Amino acid sequence: MAQQVILSGMQPTGSLHLGNYEGALKNWISLQDDYEMYCCIVDWHSLTSLYDKTEVLKDQIFQMAVDYVAAGLDPEKCAIFVQSQVKEHAELHLLLSMVVPTPWLERVPSYKEKSKSLGLDSYGFLGYPLLQAADILLYRANFVPVGKDQLPHIELTREIARRFNGLYGEVFPEPQDKLTKFAAVPGTDGNRMSKSYGNHICLSDTPEETANKISKMFTDPQKLRKGDPGRPEICPVFTLHQIYSSKEEIEKIDRDCRSGALGCVADKKHLAENINKALAPIRARAAELRANPDTVWDILRDGARKAGEKAGETMQMVREAMRLMQ
Ligand code: TRP
Repeated sequence: MAQQVILSGMQPTGSLHLGNYEGALKNWISLQDDYEMYCCIVDWHSLTSLYDKTEVLKDQIFQMAVDYVAAGLDPEKCAIFVQSQVKEHAELHLLLSMVVPTPWLERVPSYKEKSKSLGLDSYGFLGYPLLQAADILLYRANFVPVGKDQLPHIELTREIARRFNGLYGEVFPEPQDKLTKFAAVPGTDGNRMSKSYGNHICLSDTPEETANKISKMFTDPQKLRKGDPGRPEICPVFTLHQIYSSKEEIEKIDRDCRSGALGCVADKKHLAENINKALAPIRARAAELRANPDTVWDILRDGARKAGEKAGETMQMVREAMRLMQ
């Protein structure tokens, strides 16, 4: 049987942070052996908010591609590519826009929230989830690995697939979400890690930057000095230990924090060491790639060629189903 297809997408925000890595990328890496996989850097989606700062995009795409490959996405196994390099995304988006009622887009939760809070009111911003549906349907994807916040977009994609198939005949499978199991990674302030909060640790940070950020992390506010008993369950430093430290270390930290024997300064130093150890191989590969930018652009070009083959095939099916000229 042919392999099932996975399409994943991320906006090019530059070097990945630990939240992107633990929450999404690791999952993608674990899927690449068993699926026909497409990893799309969605630069057109970024334009919905970055349309007046486009000069940063190219470098952000580059840095993200570096981290993808350095972390273990294998360009031999999956197509890593930039959305705008496969023009069929735009064609499918346009054709779908003819059959999708505007209220379907107006009621998407991310639209309602963000158009207010960020003051985004463009036609393209309303079409954000439609462009995402086009990304997914263009590869006739069976699964989409996403976090919970994206579920309404996947649901909408299924509705769009059903509508298209009902109008013109079966072209698209209805894609299913593949939810990431990983708990949210906390940032240095204890909130979810996100570049927009400025509480992130990047894969590309140096070991010193990493240690420095961790040294300033939020901890249990009732534990003011070594000797005070702490509560690991409310401490983001401890949450990160649960990802980056061994079971034995975690048990000892839990015990010694509660008793007061362990102070936050030493505990943070320990965490920084473990994170830096875990990231060292990724950082070394990333440094090599940054020193050879042509390798990275070649990977993206090759990925766009592979993705373009599949996209071209789908668009032939779409044009034929819609009785358009080829
Ligand atoms: N909306 C997604 C996000 O913000 C990014 C995205 C665009 C995407 N196209 C996609 C995710 C297709 C999965 C599949 O995370």
